[in-house]
Amino acid sequence: MRHFLNLSDAGPDGIAAMLADALDRKAARIGWPKGKPDADAPLAGRVLAMVFEKNSTRTRFSFDGAMRQLGGDTIISDASQMQLGRGESVADTARILSGYCDAIMIRTDDHAKIEEMAAYASVPVINGLTDASHPCQIMADLLTIIEAGKALPGLKVAWLGDGNNVLASIVEAASLMRFDVVAACPQGFQPEAAAIVRASGRARVVADPAEAIAGADVVVTDTWISMGQAHAETKLKALMPYQVTSQLMMCAKPDAVFLHCLPAHRGEEVAADVIDGPQSLIWAEAANRLHAQKSVLRWCFGQIG
Ligand code: CP
Ligand code: NVA
Repeated sequence: MRHFLNLSDAGPDGIAAMLADALDRKAARIGWPKGKPDADAPLAGRVLAMVFEKNSTRTRFSFDGAMRQLGGDTIISDASQMQLGRGESVADTARILSGYCDAIMIRTDDHAKIEEMAAYASVPVINGLTDASHPCQIMADLLTIIEAGKALPGLKVAWLGDGNNVLASIVEAASLMRFDVVAACPQGFQPEAAAIVRASGRARVVADPAEAIAGADVVVTDTWISMGQAHAETKLKALMPYQVTSQLMMCAKPDAVFLHCLPAHRGEEVAADVIDGPQSLIWAEAANRLHAQKSVLRWCFGQIG
């Protein structure tokens, strides 16, 4: 059984295989209508359950589109409309959905729930974001970085802002794919120290945004207030010096690219002239969610890697 709860579930070889598969499959359907299945329709007859405890645009549409392109189908529900939303256990839900569907994608507010889902499901479980990580997003980010002509080993990635779930997956990717991350986060909003330790020297946290971004190949940020977090003025104030501005971008390499998982808050974590400027790859990054996830799905079904 292949669950995709974190990037380490696939490991470096699995990740490399998924990225190669995504590049190939994307190239094979250039110019095709989005709803047309791939020629080999490798997931024909398979159905993916998609459960959302939190809002989503990209994850919802890209997984649904991915399954269609792979020749499969989806059943999508908000957790609030399921018995899960009124107290049925995650374990029971896992066993029930396993009887109807060939895989389960869930977005949840608590990483422990996805671990419980995986423990009780008899089909693959995929992390569509938890409070702790967002591995599908980082698969799309890695694909976008490679498409930009940058090799992963030796790359320098700078993160500016909140030490959140997206950063946790970037840190995990760094140790698996042998690139370096320097995260600039204010006191109180730094990533979990254990996650930095697990990255075995590939990640470090600094206080100064200029230090983090100096010489970076890739600059990444994310919302300062993640879903489920209170909108705290004190947090916004602490993070203000970490806004990705065009001035800070000048400290990165001249050919550095900017990534953001979206949704974005222009004027908070990033200045409008950066996110809408020539170094920003956000639209390619968002579109790549679909291509990367097709390969995540194929990996979960044991078709690659
Ligand atoms: N980046 C991302 O996961 O977007 P959604 O919240 O819209 O799915
Ligand atoms: N860190 C954000 C990512 C949204 C895609 C959140 O968890 O809300």
